[in-house]
Amino acid sequence: MTQLTIAIAKGRLQAETLDLLSLAGVGLSSETLSSRRLAVKDESGRYRLIFVKPADVPVYVEHGIADCGIVGRDVLLESEPDLLQPLSLNIGACRIVVAATQNPPANQLGILRVATKYPRTAARHFGSRGVAVELIQLSGSVELASVLGLADCIVDLVETGKTLQENGLSIVEVITESAARFVVNRASYQLKAEAVGRLIKSLEETMEANDR
Ligand code: PRP
Repeated sequence: MTQLTIAIAKGRLQAETLDLLSLAGVGLSSETLSSRRLAVKDESGRYRLIFVKPADVPVYVEHGIADCGIVGRDVLLESEPDLLQPLSLNIGACRIVVAATQNPPANQLGILRVATKYPRTAARHFGSRGVAVELIQLSGSVELASVLGLADCIVDLVETGKTLQENGLSIVEVITESAARFVVNRASYQLKAEAVGRLIKSLEETMEANDR
């Protein structure tokens, strides 16, 4: 029996990912679910799930350590990995936006200071408009940079909008929509075609049934 390794993004997408996989036949026992193990088998024994930081999902899949993975489009846009993206999933919907405490953002120095966890996405966005920016790369709590004056604006992910609202920021511009994607290693797609195809089909059927 071919076993597939699936990389799961820890954090905000994790619960929705595990719910979707469970409905698609990749179920974890309650004991496994409550454990802190980072690599586990599903109940059927057909799948091994590994739990990694979102930005590391494409790394494991691209290198073939994981055959496939589930990760936000925001992460894929940032790292542009060499892998296949056969399926967009109906989980993890959010937007990547420019936000600031004032609209238009203050830009006293002639160079817009932009704080973000997504430096490449931000550079592409402002570059395509010919806007000169100084990128300030942060790892989290990006909204604070705008509030405390480290940056004129931020490029960040917005899901419910609560973090922006509660910190006095508003959306200046939506850069793009994001949702989770099912991604597959190029070699696995060929060499484990049947197993990968079966999983894709069952994810598709699950999403169709959910939409009904
Ligand atoms: C993300 C994002 C925003 C927040 C948006 O951060 O960077 O801060 O979620 O969500 P909301 O619109 O539902 O309020 P995350 O929670 O991943 O943590 P981080 O700040 O450590 O990156």
